[in-house]
Amino acid sequence: MRRFLIAGNWKMNCGPVDAAELLEGLENAKTEVAEEVDVLVCPPFVSLGMSVNYLQDTDIHVGAQNIHFEDNGAFTGEISASMLTECGCSFVIIGHSERREYFGETDSSVNKKIKKALAFDLVPVLCVGESLDQRKQDIHFDLVKNQVTAALEGISGDEALDVVIAYEPIWAIGTGETASKEQAQEMHAHIRGVVADLYDQETADEIRILYGGSMKPANAEELLSQPDVDGGLIGGASLNAESFAEIISIAEKLS
Ligand code: 13P
Repeated sequence: MRRFLIAGNWKMNCGPVDAAELLEGLENAKTEVAEEVDVLVCPPFVSLGMSVNYLQDTDIHVGAQNIHFEDNGAFTGEISASMLTECGCSFVIIGHSERREYFGETDSSVNKKIKKALAFDLVPVLCVGESLDQRKQDIHFDLVKNQVTAALEGISGDEALDVVIAYEPIWAIGTGETASKEQAQEMHAHIRGVVADLYDQETADEIRILYGGSMKPANAEELLSQPDVDGGLIGGASLNAESFAEIISIAEKLS
């Protein structure tokens, strides 16, 4: 039985001052502790330490939005996996479409980063998804299959169980336009099929596949009700404590 994971990707928002305010709001807004649901927030690097401290007595996990695949060295501006674990992070988003588009991430760097994250006991949240153009060309299923296959290359079935996959159609990110529940379900089922082909059905049945792209309280229930949707990777709505808490409650209700 897969547990929902409700994850907030704060992107380049909330330095330590705003992060404290948002976390306080989240604490106040959460009427019940989400016992059946895993909750994750992914603040920018400079707010990780304070977020870990702030949340230390809660069940909310803290993750980063990127790592470098080398252990250390002359990589100005980069952050290593060991630095994140030292900070108290337990998750890391890898291969977000914004990083692929603006910062030159490739399937190969994504694969190296996933391996590094796993080696340091960080749960990688592997992001995949197609552009509108790719969907119009009807190559989205193949594209996502290739992204998942390349990202998991050289990763064993046991290790793959520790990976979370996030399907984020690029055309739905930050646009207010969300994938329909049917579109989300068919791609999630497709991804699960890809994982079954790469490993086996048991692994595919266990791996969590999140949906990301304009998820908000108004559409969370129909998306999270789909059999292969195991949670959400939420951008804009995670910056509002009430909205994020509401999505957590919806997941809790559906658990
Ligand atoms: P929005 O929820 O703002 O569309 O962002 C989704 C996303 O990119 C999460 O990683």
